[in-house]
Amino acid sequence: MIYFVTGNRGKFEEAKGILGDVEQRNVGYTEIQADSLEEVAAFGIEEVKEKLDGPVMIEDAGLFIESLKGFPGVYSAYIFDTIGNEGILRLMDGIEDRRAVFRSVLGYAEPGMEPIFFRGELEGEITAEPRGSGGFGYDPIFEVGGKTIAEMEIAEKNEISHRGASICALERWLASR
Ligand code: IMP
Repeated sequence: MIYFVTGNRGKFEEAKGILGDVEQRNVGYTEIQADSLEEVAAFGIEEVKEKLDGPVMIEDAGLFIESLKGFPGVYSAYIFDTIGNEGILRLMDGIEDRRAVFRSVLGYAEPGMEPIFFRGELEGEITAEPRGSGGFGYDPIFEVGGKTIAEMEIAEKNEISHRGASICALERWLASR
């Protein structure tokens, strides 16, 4: 069993769909303002390791839009909470190049073990309008193959997503020990 430290129910459901034996623990940790997702995850996992006795994981993600030079990137949570999907669509108004990528960095640790990190990416495009009611965050404005992530079931999202990839990488690593 792994403790997934997150306040985000959507992330937890995705992890559960892959790992099965995982528990959500919303004990919180410091999300530092850094230049990379890796730094955020590396700082957070050290803190979480001290708080819980057992295998622990955290995951940090971001949306990187090509034409906005990678924005909102490491500011994704703040931007979502302030201008939201409507704000992103407004920033993208009239921009033809809609390419964007979701990135995920997962940190995992056990007592007495150096944390280990796994990554995943999902390439797609920013839509013109939000579509779909599933998922969370930027899912309604991010499309892959004509469908937004919010129009997909969790299992379908997990098969292609950044987080699906980082969680599957952890699963493979655990199985190969
Ligand atoms: P964090 O990983 O919780 O820091 O996420 C940063 C921001 O990106 C938050 O506003 C999340 O809602 C959003 N986000 C993270 N993962 C996803 C995803 O899989 N789909 C859509 N939005 C996401």
